[in-house]
Amino acid sequence: MTKEERLLLIHQIYSPSAPVEVIDLFAGRKKELLNIRKTVQEKGQHAVVFGRRGAGKTSLINVLNQIFTNVFVVKVTASRNDTFEDLWDRAVRKVKYPEKVQKIGFKSEFAEELVSLYLPDKRDILPGDIAEMFADVEQPLLFTFDEFDCVENKTAKIKMADTLKTLSDNAPNVTVLISGIAENVNQLVGFHPSLERCIRQVELALMQASEVELFLKMCMQITEMHIRKEVLRQITEYSAGFPHYVHLLAKFSAQEAAANGATMILQPHFNRAVTLSIENSSHSLRSAYKLAVKSSKAKNSYENVLFTIGNTPPDDGESYSPDFLLEHYNRAYNANSKSIKYNLGMLCRKDRGEILEKSGRSETLRYRLKNPLMRAFIKLKIHTEGGETYIIAKTKNANK
Ligand SMILES: Nc1ncnc2c1ncn2[C@@H]1O[C@H](COP(=O)(O)OP(=O)(O)OP(=O)(O)O)[C@@H](O)[C@H]1O
Ligand SMILES: [Mg+2]
Repeated sequence: MTKEERLLLIHQIYSPSAPVEVIDLFAGRKKELLNIRKTVQEKGQHAVVFGRRGAGKTSLINVLNQIFTNVFVVKVTASRNDTFEDLWDRAVRKVKYPEKVQKIGFKSEFAEELVSLYLPDKRDILPGDIAEMFADVEQPLLFTFDEFDCVENKTAKIKMADTLKTLSDNAPNVTVLISGIAENVNQLVGFHPSLERCIRQVELALMQASEVELFLKMCMQITEMHIRKEVLRQITEYSAGFPHYVHLLAKFSAQEAAANGATMILQPHFNRAVTLSIENSSHSLRSAYKLAVKSSKAKNSYENVLFTIGNTPPDDGESYSPDFLLEHYNRAYNANSKSIKYNLGMLCRKDRGEILEKSGRSETLRYRLKNPLMRAFIKLKIHTEGGETYIIAKTKNANK
């Protein structure tokens, strides 16, 4: 492989800002795929895939038709103004079925053609109409509605929930998969006690270290490259489970190596990749961070607090108690501050970038990153400052 061919491949396989399209570049998610398979196989069951922004929901949906070869998979991407009719109109048109069609000419010959389905010709399409259309189909069909969190039309959401129930009762070979950003199923489709039995919840967590490693191995094979173990560990650690950062760091590291004629990704390539990844991070992350740490001092306590957050996994998986953070802050900076609540409070303010948001009061007070991607961004910043050792050796700054 020439240097140019390798650089082109690198450009093609890493997609920090676009979902995966082909199964060869799709890593892990075995458990989630198995759950979706079970849902399709179980008559009357439907799936709701939910997770954080950027967790990999669309990528998962994109590869379903390459995995379930005996199922006809339809993908609909929902948008803000969609009505129930809009969503199902786009969905059913994508279903192609063979039909005998009379050819034009003197001889009345028939040919088999693939034709599309259409919704019944009436204004108000009801869940029952959808179920009726598919009541007798024998071919397993999987309708996926992605980005469903965008849909603002309340009636569309209610009707969709009713459709799942009606399909379960009347169209056993049809499965619906609804996917979107949410913390739970109710947030995405609303609370319907009657739906509980027919919905399988598929929570898409951030990528596990083993999945990141698998992805990097796949990419190394395709590009005929190798990666230093320590660099692989750092990509896994710094991306904090966000596949966007896995792609970004891996892409720039590979580019740096390949551009220098190397096939082994080494620490200096990765170091450069970190700088490029910071520069290529979203404007909102960069500007929020800049606001948060602005200070007239050479080094300020806001950055130290953020570095502590970047280096400390939340004590309940999502958010921090101020005391827990204080303990880690004092340990990291060899300090004996009594409280960092002032800084934490300030970091919730607009003029400090609104990096954090708080919930609860006094005893129940907790802080969490407003944009979870900020964790990866902070980790990159820590790296450019020389890593953990730098912070620990750093000054015992005042709290304000
Ligand atoms: N299983 C995977 N293997 C490799 N890369 C992945 C995988 N899943 C997602 N990605 C990458 O992660 C990034 C986000 O993926 P994707 O767009 O699918 O997420 P999403 O959850 O649909 O995002 P959003 O919440 O914005 O709709 C993309 O760069 C994509 O290429
Ligand atoms: Mg998506």
